[in-house]
Amino acid sequence: MKEIIVISRGPEATVSLGKGIGALLKPPDVVSLFGDFGSGKTCLIQGIVRGLGGSDEEYVRSPGYTLMNQYVGKVPIFHFDLFRINDLSEIEELNLEGYFYDDGVTVIEWAEKIHPLLPINRLDIRLVIIGEKEREITLIPRAIEHLFSLHSQISMAT
Ligand SMILES: Nc1ncnc2c1ncn2[C@@H]1O[C@H](COP(=O)(O)OP(=O)(O)OP(=O)(O)O)[C@@H](O)[C@H]1O
Ligand SMILES: [Mg+2]
Repeated sequence: MKEIIVISRGPEATVSLGKGIGALLKPPDVVSLFGDFGSGKTCLIQGIVRGLGGSDEEYVRSPGYTLMNQYVGKVPIFHFDLFRINDLSEIEELNLEGYFYDDGVTVIEWAEKIHPLLPINRLDIRLVIIGEKEREITLIPRAIEHLFSLHSQISMAT
């Protein structure tokens, strides 16, 4: 699948990219985010939630100890932050796979923690810090057919 590389030059641009992505998502899509601390995963998700019809980006925060936040957009949005997961066995009680087939959209920060459990149909997003305000954001749609048009949609949105 063709990768799409976007250079974001500030948080607003990352939110805007997220909005464009969010507008294309539908249940039971899964978005898996990979990237270091401060690379902009939560920032991008703020945009995704807006693009999915969530009204207030302010309340989108890394879930922290709860591991999962749920938001209300046009569809339910499940936001996981798996930074604290050290072993796959720790996520069994989360019933993560149940969300992948639910009626909502799932977004996952620190998706590398559960790589073997990720569904085949997903959008991978890799974020790399390349400067104080610059982020290289790579979108890799894996077998999500309605996201194959991502390239044209994203260039219009950003
Ligand atoms: N182009 C950019 N895109 C996104 N964030 C940026 C950008 N430039 C600077 N920033 C800053 O980088 C930080 C990104 O924080 P954010 O919480 O989104 O990262 P994160 O990847 O979720 O981190 P964590 O792993 O700690 O959850 C914010 O302070 C934001 O203002
Ligand atoms: Mg975060």
